[in-house]
Amino acid sequence: MSRVSIRVNNLKKVFRKRSSPFRKVTEEWALKGVSFEVASGEAYALLGPNGSGKSTLIRILSTLLLQDGGTVEIEGLRLPEHERRVREIVGRVSVDAAFYKKLSAKENLLYSAFMYGYQRREAEQRALEILEQLGFPARRFHDPLEEMSRGMQQKIAIARALLVNPPVLLLDEPTTGLDPKSKRDVQVFLERLRELHRTTILLTSHDMAEAERLCERIGLLAGGNLVAEGTADDLRRKAGCVNLDDVFIRLTGEKLVDEEKETLEEA
Ligand SMILES: Nc1ncnc2c1ncn2[C@@H]1O[C@H](COP(=O)(O)OP(=O)(O)O)[C@@H](O)[C@H]1O
Ligand SMILES: [Mg+2]
Repeated sequence: MSRVSIRVNNLKKVFRKRSSPFRKVTEEWALKGVSFEVASGEAYALLGPNGSGKSTLIRILSTLLLQDGGTVEIEGLRLPEHERRVREIVGRVSVDAAFYKKLSAKENLLYSAFMYGYQRREAEQRALEILEQLGFPARRFHDPLEEMSRGMQQKIAIARALLVNPPVLLLDEPTTGLDPKSKRDVQVFLERLRELHRTTILLTSHDMAEAERLCERIGLLAGGNLVAEGTADDLRRKAGCVNLDDVFIRLTGEKLVDEEKETLEEA
């Protein structure tokens, strides 16, 4: 048996909202009891339409949100009890990465590296190395973030998560909104990373083909529930169809929303 790196059991999260001061508070269960495990060195994809709970789950695992039920263990460390130690071993990339937009790519990356105790020379070298592998043009290293396309910012977000070479990577839609070339750069990079370091990866995506390419197993999330799980072929058998988008639609009962065509990188 391979070691378990991420163990999620009956995970629940509720958001309470009041649409106006006169209305009653309504509850919305973003996660309704999700359970799955990711083995050490495995890549696992969570797929689901918008609003299915993917980001909520990633945010709980990266200690940014507290769960309302169930348990989470990362490398044997339970959340929220061990959130400090979990932060040290988990790297997170999200589509809406926050940066200091007036600062350059280099300044943003060095800032993060210093917080992790890296020395300047070492951090700079590693940042450049990762960005080069991601196909990021080195001459843009000194430009402010606000002047960069979404694809470039996304590559910097990935470089930032990987500066410290964490054993566990949580990637929330790392390729959504990227043009085909950038998307390929990121995918190839993630494949190499796994070969070299056996990093455990939990990735969310809208793209079934990407999930099949990068991940051993896929979990389908719909309305806060994990509705199916397995290899891409398991899911094809289960759904009784070959085309992965059809598999998704049949198993989740929802349409796959492809936002990428709307948000293609402008560069
Ligand atoms: N901070 C929040 N406050 C209130 N509701 C939220 C918040 N974050 C997410 N939700 C709700 O939880 C559900 C799941 O959202 P999310 O996890 O972002 O889905 P996904 O990433 O799959 O698109 C959605 O219905 C969303 O409106
Ligand atoms: Mg999301």
